[in-house]
Amino acid sequence: FEVTWDVEAAEKGGYPHFMLKEIYEQPKALKDTLSPRINENNEIILDDIKLTKEDLEKINKVVIVACGTAYHAGLVGRYAIEKFARIPVEVDVASEFRYRDPFVDDKTLFIAVSQSGETADTLAALREAKEKGARIMAVTNVVGSRISREADDVFYTWAGPEIAVASTKAYTTQLMAMYLIALNMGIKKGTVTKEKYDEVLTELKALPEKVETLLENIENIQKLADQQFHNENVFYIGRGIDDHVGREGSLKLKEISYIHSEAIAAGELKHGTIALIEEGTLVVALATHDYLYDKMLSNMKEVKARGAYVIGVAQEGNQEIEKSADAVIYIPNTMDELSPILSVIPLQLFAYYIAVARGADVDKPKNLAKSVTVE
Ligand code: G6P
Repeated sequence: FEVTWDVEAAEKGGYPHFMLKEIYEQPKALKDTLSPRINENNEIILDDIKLTKEDLEKINKVVIVACGTAYHAGLVGRYAIEKFARIPVEVDVASEFRYRDPFVDDKTLFIAVSQSGETADTLAALREAKEKGARIMAVTNVVGSRISREADDVFYTWAGPEIAVASTKAYTTQLMAMYLIALNMGIKKGTVTKEKYDEVLTELKALPEKVETLLENIENIQKLADQQFHNENVFYIGRGIDDHVGREGSLKLKEISYIHSEAIAAGELKHGTIALIEEGTLVVALATHDYLYDKMLSNMKEVKARGAYVIGVAQEGNQEIEKSADAVIYIPNTMDELSPILSVIPLQLFAYYIAVARGADVDKPKNLAKSVTVE
């Protein structure tokens, strides 16, 4: 008598793929990253970040460097740090950063974002910045990883192990990390008011539950994926941080479904990409920001007029979008600044269900590795 049981199936906890399991782990992962860092006085406590108020006053520039999905989190990080801490931020992909003789000195704060903490290009960029005298901060998910060991300050995203090659919970917890780092810097520097700080923190705390709500209502997304899986070209458009989220949504789709996909800032459409829009082209349009809402609606009308099938993503209550889209995915209301943590979820699910419909090997896409340790 022999007991056979499938270890992998057991690890997937009833989900057909690790990716789906990890998408569903996001409420918990976000809570795990956030809760232990807020004390009873609503202060953000970052144990492994030793950057003081005095250190911060010396810093005149932040450089965020990363690869792939982590790079997309870096783009949102730039927005958050510039907004809350009022320090100019550059973001670069690691494989480019080192080869352009970057302006980095002892007044630079260098932030490496890396799920694995082992990506060769990111590590090499870190070493380059260190040699030039920069203060080094790491945002990583793996305790004791090379990048964490070589950094002066570390923020661990407590997302738990991520098995699927396509990153999901690592990304949303990286976003959470960037918001906390930016807010913490802002309050130390006095560039964010106590009122705004409290408002953002309260909303950050509400996000895990809102993600949970989103994950309970996915039929609409599944249905759209089942209708659209045969497309060979998909475009993602957005403005501001919606554009950054669009890039992540597009990468997810590319990675696991092998559909050609591009993400561009919606305002750039008219400078080239709109030439590719024809009858039936699928366009995913993110319009989650109040102050860019009207501008986005007009971009959506432009592509629709050329025959595109437009899926809009908007905050609940913004029904106006229905006139400019063929289908709409609503996300729960949140502050505009924090929308990426919510708006990326439907894009992850959309990519996932399309890949499943196409019969792709979701967790282990061809040609891709979870961690790239060669340059
Ligand atoms: C690989 C993975 C991506 C990941 C990127 C950066 O390409 O397939 O999912 O975003 O590496 O990895 P890191 O561990 O540095 O975040």
